[in-house]
Amino acid sequence: MILTITMNPSVDISYPLNKLIINDINRVAEVKKTAGGKGLNVTRGIKYSGIPVLASGILGGTTGEYIQKQLDNDNINYNFYVTQHESRNCIAILHEGYQTEILESGPVLDNHDVDIFLRHYQKLLSQSTVITISGSLPQGFPVDFYTQLTEKANKHQIPVLLDCSGKTLIAVLKSKDKPYLIKPNKDELKQIIQMDIDENDTSSLIKALHHPLLNDIPFVILSLGQNGAFARCHNQYYQVSIPKITVVNPVGSGDVTLAGLAASIHENETVEVMLKRAMTMGMLNTMEPQTGFVNMANYDHYYRQVNVIHIIEK
Ligand SMILES: Nc1ncnc2c1ncn2[C@@H]1O[C@H](COP(=O)(O)OP(=O)(O)OP(=O)(O)O)[C@@H](O)[C@H]1O
Ligand SMILES: [Mg+2]
Repeated sequence: MILTITMNPSVDISYPLNKLIINDINRVAEVKKTAGGKGLNVTRGIKYSGIPVLASGILGGTTGEYIQKQLDNDNINYNFYVTQHESRNCIAILHEGYQTEILESGPVLDNHDVDIFLRHYQKLLSQSTVITISGSLPQGFPVDFYTQLTEKANKHQIPVLLDCSGKTLIAVLKSKDKPYLIKPNKDELKQIIQMDIDENDTSSLIKALHHPLLNDIPFVILSLGQNGAFARCHNQYYQVSIPKITVVNPVGSGDVTLAGLAASIHENETVEVMLKRAMTMGMLNTMEPQTGFVNMANYDHYYRQVNVIHIIEK
């Protein structure tokens, strides 16, 4: 079973408006509310792939209850640490071709919550084959919290697939407990390695993925939106190209890509198959209006069009 970790889940609310009027009343007829947070997008992607998955993390209050009800509706198994603190709402206002977002920071938690969650997580390890960790930490959690989760998983030889950014990612990269895989996008990688990346230049990409901070991480998958991905798998490099498609909503594509990677590692597939599977999932997500959803009926059609080139390093 794949375990997905979402430490700061949300109720994602979308308000479609013809026009956003500032300093006046805006009435919305069609409100959509979904269980959100990057890790829950990953969870749905894995569920669509037909692989057993358990969602965990921290939630609470009536928002937390709503998230659990939504997961029940989607037949997704979960086992969260439930606190007294209200989980957050994240609002996206869709107007005039723009997306204006208002994101709550979420509850402020403390060391007591850290300890309880670590014990909760430890109990879930015995059932887990692969662990995905996605998104931001709750306020009040230490910056090395994902390092602690990774260390515990490594002790059980469970591969950790990590998708986070900024200080939390750097803390993990600088620790001795490395994740099995990271999936930064270009901006996230640039922020870590502090150098420019030319995605049309293979030597620039190789140089970026060769950065000392990324040493000892077996799989580094740099996702490049419409340009597919560039990956280092152990000491081999791969350029992955994808077909041109009509994009409806690209938000969450990286999360569903991570779901494809986790599914593939769970099933012990080859690197080529893993990369094709991950790209196909990401593309399918961009074709749906709802974040983190895919239509698996189109899977084979797009999978066939993904091209993986194994680059022999000069
Ligand atoms: N515009 C697009 N056209 C085609 N495929 C796309 C597009 N955007 C994303 N994808 C697919 O999804 C994958 C992941 O997308 P991207 O690199 O944008 O991740 P991300 O920035 O982490 O996204 P997010 O954080 O919103 O989930 C890409 O490698 C690709 O397969
Ligand atoms: Mg991302």
